[in-house]
Amino acid sequence: MMEKERLIVGISGASGVIYGIRLLELLHDLPVETHLVMTRPAELVLATESDLAPKDVRALADVTHPIGNMGAVISSGSFRTMGMVAAPCSMKSLAEIATGMGSTLLARAADVTLKERRRLVLMVRETPLHSGHLRNMLNVSHMGAVIAPPVPAFYAKPESLEQMVDHTLGRILDLFGLESGTVQRWGEDESKTGSHMDQNAEAAPVKLGEKTGP
Ligand SMILES: Cc1cc2nc3c(=O)[nH]c(=O)nc-3n(C[C@H](O)[C@H](O)[C@H](O)COP(=O)(O)O)c2cc1C
Repeated sequence: MMEKERLIVGISGASGVIYGIRLLELLHDLPVETHLVMTRPAELVLATESDLAPKDVRALADVTHPIGNMGAVISSGSFRTMGMVAAPCSMKSLAEIATGMGSTLLARAADVTLKERRRLVLMVRETPLHSGHLRNMLNVSHMGAVIAPPVPAFYAKPESLEQMVDHTLGRILDLFGLESGTVQRWGEDESKTGSHMDQNAEAAPVKLGEKTGP
């Protein structure tokens, strides 16, 4: 019997908990079993940025793991998953992952994901960044993680915050080979991208203020 694919969703205490919430919603429509771990600061941010209570967010996942339960299945490499997304990933959780400290279940699950050579995607969120943050990002990237800050794609011409979030999350799910149907793909909508134009034609000089591609 084939097991259902599992994906770990970590929500840490950075701004943008909406990414984790919406990710769980999108995964609900896909053949994926979701395992949620949410930090205590994430619950604080949730209270600031959303009308949802922590229990509402937990209800979106197939399985939820208390942050202090270091004996949870996701803290073991023998528990098979397709990987993990931290959405969003705070600078503190990033630092824990970069050093392999794993003092929370979120950081431990990320560490396990890396050691098992599975896909770890970190939607890091802070601005501006000092060189310590940047060094941590480089370190985890060298360790195999994908650094994917939630940076909006304006070429998709989002008409709402929801569309902007969904497009970003669609690109995150692309990294796991999962099709969410929320990505406005460059070159696939000819009327918007102008891809019907002769690609070999010499480009006309662009004037300041003129609309261009991404
Ligand atoms: C409303 C709010 C917004 C925050 N936004 C960020 C942020 O965008 N990035 C970040 O690294 N930390 C942010 N923090 C601070 C983190 O919550 C704090 O560093 C915490 O220790 C992170 O722990 P965790 O990674 O275990 O969730 C924010 C805190 C609050 C209360």
